[in-house]
This record gives sequence, structure tokens and C-alpha cells, in this order.
Amino acid sequence: MTIADDKKNRRRLLVTSALPYANGDIHLGHLLEAVMTDIFVRYHRLRGNEVLYVCADDTHGTPVELSALNQGVTPEELVGKVLENHIRDYSKYDISFDIFYTTHSEENRKYAELIYENLRKKNLIVEREINQYYCEHDNRFLPDRFVVGTCPRCKAPNQYGDVCEACGTTYEPTDVIDPACKLCGNRPVMRASTHIYVELAKREDFLREFINRPGVLQTDMKNFVKTWIDDGLREWCISRDGPYFGFKIPGTENKYFYVWMDAPIGYLSSTEKYCKDNGGDVMDYWKKDGPCEVVHFIGKDIVYFHALFWPVMLDSSDFAVPSSLRIHGFLNIQGEKMSKSRGTFILAHEYIEKVEHPQAAEFLRFYYGSKLSPTSADMDLNKEELITRVNTTLANNIGNLHHRAMVFCERYFDNRVPDAKWDEEIAAQVETAADEIANWYESGDFKLVAEKIQALGSVGNKYFQDQKPWELIKTGDKAAAGAVIVTCVNLIKALAVFLKPITPKISASFEKQLSLKLEWGDYRFSLSNHEIAAIEKLAVPFEESHLSALFAPITDLQKTGEL
Ligand code: 2FM
Ligand code: ZN
Repeated sequence: MTIADDKKNRRRLLVTSALPYANGDIHLGHLLEAVMTDIFVRYHRLRGNEVLYVCADDTHGTPVELSALNQGVTPEELVGKVLENHIRDYSKYDISFDIFYTTHSEENRKYAELIYENLRKKNLIVEREINQYYCEHDNRFLPDRFVVGTCPRCKAPNQYGDVCEACGTTYEPTDVIDPACKLCGNRPVMRASTHIYVELAKREDFLREFINRPGVLQTDMKNFVKTWIDDGLREWCISRDGPYFGFKIPGTENKYFYVWMDAPIGYLSSTEKYCKDNGGDVMDYWKKDGPCEVVHFIGKDIVYFHALFWPVMLDSSDFAVPSSLRIHGFLNIQGEKMSKSRGTFILAHEYIEKVEHPQAAEFLRFYYGSKLSPTSADMDLNKEELITRVNTTLANNIGNLHHRAMVFCERYFDNRVPDAKWDEEIAAQVETAADEIANWYESGDFKLVAEKIQALGSVGNKYFQDQKPWELIKTGDKAAAGAVIVTCVNLIKALAVFLKPITPKISASFEKQLSLKLEWGDYRFSLSNHEIAAIEKLAVPFEESHLSALFAPITDLQKTGEL
């Protein structure tokens, strides 16, 4: 029995992708994570599980304030515009969010204040005085990014107060040579300010127990996080001096929550907004020890926040803590780090605009899916491999089998899937594969899913080739030809089910041709004597020329040896 058959076994999942910063466009790295999450979400929906896929823009903090300043708009205007762009870009890739909200919302303010209050009540908050740069001209404390000066290491001028973009060294603003205020150019002075800290070390036992819960972390990551705990949990500063684009901390004069305090709270507040608009209760998802599994997809650079700070914040307020953190690596392009200055930084909308193929987005989804496994290893986007993988599996293997079988239905069986009995051995192979594929979807091993789909497609093509239905037609054995075709169409149906989370449009095209709506259980052979509508190719091959405009700048750099 599948889960969909048995309502009692329906799982409830709250699934998230990390909230993108609201100071720039969505790029192919963001998309890798969104596609990965979306595949998982679509798989669970296909199985009949109840899934809420939540995301939002991460709107607060200094980088957003700086971008707005540079663009001559207010932070509110900037985050409003960026939100529209982000929603537009993700939709081009069929990322099926149930809600894409913003952390600049009243719901988010409410939960940030609530969690802060509870951290206080649990005696986890402490105040400390520290010295910071202050600009007497602008009358403000200067966050790291508002201090500019000469790098203490390589002596490059005009570097930010936290990192040198020339040599990559990170440092404190107080290390910078000839510090100046980014706003007015004057030299800042040192001034004392009181800040608010979370005493993470007090929750060490809880955190050790949490990271060891089955399924919370991949093994490599668990060891990594454990060493952070072993090295000693440092106090976490959650306040920033105003002016700061964010939420004022209740009970303070001019302090704001640090962006990383209210960002993950966006998962919670966006759930609340969804429930307000669509019915339901936020506690259906976030109740401590409740029935809902909370699954966060994140990059390896933000594990500290999600594995240590976030569970403490949630637990202090008796909300559910994550059931699973799915951690991925970074995306490289043609073997190189994505970098704006080197032109290896590809935006999501740029890919759509420059790749001249109507299935460009669907093909990228497939490519990502075919390479994803549950590790935090980096992934490379490679033009030749993108073409090969798409063509090998989607166009030449599955597309070919589909087209050949459907043309037979059209030509020799009066636009119907033949009224014949299918090959039980192939049906049995699909049955076995279904369990394996289900496990790989669950564990995030989408690469193995794609490999199995490819293998099953090859089984179908070989079977078609060996059985020679064209000769059976010629020799008048239409019944035998019907058995071959009914087997192939049912196999394609199974593949359309298995592919549906990865390439929803290709599966939708197949559904349309057969007037079906495929659920997980439909991988089982079931079709015979079934009418077909107009045939449509499932995948038109990707060619070098479709991708040349997108990759040209990078290829040029590689040729001139600049990379
Ligand atoms: O690293 C980032 O891009 C952050 N904006 C992710 C935030 S995820 C969550 F915690 F909100
Ligand atoms: Zn100044």
C-alpha cells in the first residue's frame, strides 16, 4: 500500500529553502538549492503527503541598507522591488513554494519579539559593553561594512572593515589602516556600547542531544558541528546599534535585532502568514513534539546558524526544532567559483534569456537533479555535461522510447494504447525500482533516481529493439506488436511518475497526451485500450548553439587564461 492509499499514514512536512538576501538577484547557486528543495517537496506531494513549502526574502541588515543607499532608494523600496524579482525568477523554474514572503513583516516582528522574550525568561540573555567605531559626523555606530580603509595585510586601499576583497583576509574593523566612515569619509572614534548576547553554552547538553537525533544531520556534518561544540560555544551577539534596517529590540533605546536573529524566524512567520491566508494554524506545523517534520535545505556556509542558534531559539519558545537539515555544497561554473568580477556569475533570469531553448529551465532542473546526492560536496555546472546528460536521458532515451511507442499507437492502433497484455517481467522490474527510487527521493539521492530512470529507459529501448514490433506488424501479428507497445507505454508512464518531481513539465506533457493525472501509485502498469491525444515530443535535444550565448564570456576568459 502506498502512503497515498492510506490517509492515516500521511506525513506532514514543513519544508524550507534558505531565505535569499533581498539585495541582489537570484543566481544559479540559489536555484540549485531551490531545485533540490522543490524535488523533495514535489516527491512528497506525489506520495500524497501533506507538504508546506515555505520561503521568503531575508530583508534586514547592513548589506541591504548599503545597496539601498547606493541605488538612492529606501530599504523598504528596495526590498519591495527585489521581492517581486525573486518571485518572478523562481517561478520560471517551477519552484512550487506555497508561500514566498518577507522577513520585513509584522508577523516576523511578533515572533522575533516573542522568541527574544522567552530567551530572556529562560535566563539565556546577557548584556555586555564593547567598544566600536562611531562616526561623530553622522552620529552613528559604524557596522563593519560602514568602515573602509587599507587592508592590514596586503595594503590594498578602500577595503571594507571585515574583509579585504583583494587578498581575502578577514579581520576586525579596528585592524584596518586609516579607517574612515563610508558615509562621510571622516575618521571614526571608539565609543562604548552595550550589546545583547545569547549564552549558547548554557544549552550545550540540549545541542549535543539535538545533533545526535537520527536524521538531523548528515554524518560528515554531524562531526563538524560536534567539533564546534567541543571547542566551546561562544556567546552570540543579537543586537546592532541604530540606525539599522530591522526590528527595534523592545526595552532598548536604539538597538535592533541582528539580521541573523530574525532571518530564520522568517520560516515561522511565513508559515503563519500562509495559515492566515489559507486556513490552518501555525502550530499545526511548529508545535513541539507535534506530528510535523520540519526540513530545512541550506548551504554549508550557514550550518552554524541552523544547527546551533536556531534550535536554541525554537526550543526556548517550545516550538518544534528541525527534524532534518539537508546541507549542500556550493555551485561552481565550468570548474570555477562563481564570481561577479570574473563573469562566472550567472543569474537565473540571464540563463532563461540567453539559452535559446523552450525547455531550458526544465533541463537545468534535470541536470541539477541528476548530480545531487546527500553530501555537502560542491557541484560543477559544466556546459558539455549539461548537454550530454539532458540528451542522453531525456531526449535520446526516454524521449525516443516515448515517441516510437506513441507513433505505433497512432498509426496502427487507432490512436489508442493497444488492448493487450503487457510483459510481466518488465512490470516487475519497475515494481522493484519504485521502492529504490522512493528511498532515494527520501534521502536526497536524486542522482541515483536519475540513473535508475536512465537504466529503465534503456531496458525499454532494448526491449523495443529486440521485439521488432514493426516486423510483427508487417507479418500480420498485430496482437504481438500490441503487447510490445502496451508494455512500452506503461513503462513510459512509470518513468513519467518517477521523473515528475524533477521535470514536472515533461511529465505534464505526457499526462496531457494520455489525459491522466499521475500520482505515485501510477508507476504500476495499468493502461490498455486507452485513447491518446496528439503526440508531443517529451524533450527536444539540447545543442551547443543553444548555450553559446550564456557560456561565451566564461569560455573567452578560459581561452585567454584569465581564469
Ligand atoms: O546566507 C544567506 O543567504 C541568508 N540570507 C540565509 C538565511 S536563511 C534563514 F535563516 F533565514
Ligand atoms: Zn560619517
